[in-house]
Amino acid sequence: AKEQYHEFVVQEASVTRLCRQRSIMTVNGQFPGPTVEISEGDSLIVRVINRGRYNVTVHWHGVRQMRTGWADGPEYVTQCPIRPGGSYTYRFTVAGQEGTLWWHAHSSWLRATVYGALIIRPRAGVAAYPFNYFNPPAREIPILLGEWWDMNPIDVVRTATRTGAAPNVSDALTVNGQPGDLYGSCSSKDTATFAVKSGETNLLRFINAALNTELFVSLAGHTMTVVGADASYTKPYSTSVLMIAPGQTTDALVTLDQPPGKYYLAARAYASAQGVPFDNTTTTAIFDYGGGSGSGSPAMPTLPAYNDTATVTTFTTSLRGLRKAELPSQVDESLFFTVGVGLFNCSAGQSCGGPNNTRFAASINNVSFVLPSTVSILQAHYSYSLGGAEQQGSVFTADFPANPPVQFDYTAQNVSRALWQPVPGTKVYRLKYGAGVQVVLQGTNIFAGENHPIHIHGYDLYVLAQGFGNFDAAKDSLLFNLDDPPMRNTVAVPVNGWAVIRFVADNPGVWLMHCHLDVHITWGLAMAFLVDDGVGELQSLEAPPPDLPLC
Ligand code: C2O
Repeated sequence: AKEQYHEFVVQEASVTRLCRQRSIMTVNGQFPGPTVEISEGDSLIVRVINRGRYNVTVHWHGVRQMRTGWADGPEYVTQCPIRPGGSYTYRFTVAGQEGTLWWHAHSSWLRATVYGALIIRPRAGVAAYPFNYFNPPAREIPILLGEWWDMNPIDVVRTATRTGAAPNVSDALTVNGQPGDLYGSCSSKDTATFAVKSGETNLLRFINAALNTELFVSLAGHTMTVVGADASYTKPYSTSVLMIAPGQTTDALVTLDQPPGKYYLAARAYASAQGVPFDNTTTTAIFDYGGGSGSGSPAMPTLPAYNDTATVTTFTTSLRGLRKAELPSQVDESLFFTVGVGLFNCSAGQSCGGPNNTRFAASINNVSFVLPSTVSILQAHYSYSLGGAEQQGSVFTADFPANPPVQFDYTAQNVSRALWQPVPGTKVYRLKYGAGVQVVLQGTNIFAGENHPIHIHGYDLYVLAQGFGNFDAAKDSLLFNLDDPPMRNTVAVPVNGWAVIRFVADNPGVWLMHCHLDVHITWGLAMAFLVDDGVGELQSLEAPPPDLPLC
């Protein structure tokens, strides 16, 4: 195993998109940021130097970070942010995971432009891809789907936080930072083009780095075969359309078996909530076989309608783990978490921008997550573990509820707000090291039912089953796939429905779980697990790195 060193300089750069010039935050002046390519088992040492004007952290999305929580990155959860002028070095090993992951800023909405691919190949000489073993893909193409605002995204979220209203939707969707040629006359040069070769099989590594938009993706005239998701291999699944939620990745093979020419890769929103504004534009990139006849416009794929939940369900439930799952031998912790968006009452004398003079609030089990500001949760708990000052009560409490406070029909709209007023809090749920954990994630419809891509840090999860309506243990546990469930780090909980996940709490530390729609994490759709180390609390964790930023 090798050790790779990288320097990430967070800095402004000037770019032009949709005919406007704008200064954006980047890593090393690149947008999207640099691709990091490693072999499974390698270690990464990434020194992040902040030359920008905002606080920043970097998260290695999907990396297990076994006992290296100090390198995970979510601000105020595992570290204080790196201030302008400061730096911090992330050190971790990527083991037992192969495929596509990514990295992104984990501060405010900086990840709109601060993100890049993290590609993990099998170890050299030991293993190869389990698919097309005798005919490995001729080339690999990272495809990062994103979202572009004409405004500075930090100002978009600041305005929304101030008023309590929903933030502006994005002005474009992007492929590798480019909106593509359907955004009016000036956008045609802003189109990602992939030169491909007839007859080859290529591996497309899709990453949904968009902030708030689940995406359908198709390549005109071509079928794709999914072979992996979230850096776990899947049984091959052939399809003409992918659904990728923010945070998720999908690896797909495509054989370039069409007549020479140009073909659009196109992506647009899956918008599960009714009546909630979304970016309904279409982003395009071009697959160019070269040598094609004529200069006609590329063939356009047919994408599902924005509200085509049936296609989403077909896609999601068709993914199966390549190998038999190694499930926890027993469930020691059975949790039931409601996830959804609700409304806060506006404080007296204020005027709020949400519906009927409210503020949007999102929650898990009615707790709307609040980040600490003086020290990260991991730092507070680590020092307490070693006999340091009791910071727990002042920074966070370990009383996150295992169940929602009230039971009702989770699919019903217009539930009385008195019954379901989210309560702000910095609460963690404590898990014993080694515990088998099952979580039922139940979507709610307090304000609007919506698909929520729930991401957990520091873990991969088996997704045993999903369905619509209220989870019914007696009936729905018969649907659990205990044989080859897909393993993911981000599970898309169906609109007005549920998903059941399992994992073993084998990684000590403090791990954030949240909706990967940034608008929802802004509103508090998050919580954290505190996993002890089986010795004391976190006494066996390595000491925090000396350059760990202070708040
Ligand atoms: Cu991809 Cu908490 O993040």
